[in-house]
Amino acid sequence: MGKYNPIGIFDSGVGGLTVVKSLLEELPYENFIYFGDTAHVPYGNKTPSELFSYAHNIIKFLMANNVKAIIVACGTHSSITLPVISTEYSLPILGVVNPGAIMATNHSKNNKIGVLATQATVKSLAYTKAIKAINKNCEVYEVFCPEFVPLVEAGKLDGEATELAVAKYVQPLKVLGIDTLILGCTHYPFLDEVIGLYAGGDIKLINPSYTTVTVLKELLAEKGLLNDEGLAPQRDFYVSGDDSSFFRVGNLLLDNIIEKVAKVNL
Ligand code: DGL
Repeated sequence: MGKYNPIGIFDSGVGGLTVVKSLLEELPYENFIYFGDTAHVPYGNKTPSELFSYAHNIIKFLMANNVKAIIVACGTHSSITLPVISTEYSLPILGVVNPGAIMATNHSKNNKIGVLATQATVKSLAYTKAIKAINKNCEVYEVFCPEFVPLVEAGKLDGEATELAVAKYVQPLKVLGIDTLILGCTHYPFLDEVIGLYAGGDIKLINPSYTTVTVLKELLAEKGLLNDEGLAPQRDFYVSGDDSSFFRVGNLLLDNIIEKVAKVNL
């Protein structure tokens, strides 16, 4: 394993591209393989046993492609499968929940933190536990937002349907007086303009992607696996289901960096 080996990244669909965005800024020379499990999107309504089965198949696929580390670019898997799978494989596997919790607790002044996430993530209380492990005085309010993932997967980042959904999910958190709001599903930062507008200037939005990539950078540097050589990176995109919609929406979200999407059956 060396520094030119790719980083593996996965999510149910285009949501993990928020992590790719941060990766392109912070680690622009890294090769990576992105897997969007579009045959199973959305993950938010899946059971833990379904999620474990998807995670094992995807990790095996990424390992067969010689990845040096994996980012679970998905709040749902980071909440439910990551604590187990990170102990079962020999390579580093990182998620987005702890970085999100660290960013939120660093920012909050009134210790009232809101979390928008999928149903499965909210049910797991992973964000509440991670935040309280850092600061037990924090009050954490989690809301699940089933309408967001279909909107993002369809590329509907604004417009009436998006605004109505945002109002529905964010209003109860505004009433509770939060000063910090974690976008706890990796799809949601693509809606940050509408969410930010509705939440207002007093509520800071937290996108866990930035810190997640920083944690990865430190880890790769420690292991001598950081690729900072300025060679043109190889960026491969795979999906398990719909590839044309991933290609279209992914390029809308990532400013046309996706050259092709390959479909694989795991
Ligand atoms: N983007 C993922 C997450 O962060 C999956 C969302 C979904 O497919 O429901 O939870």
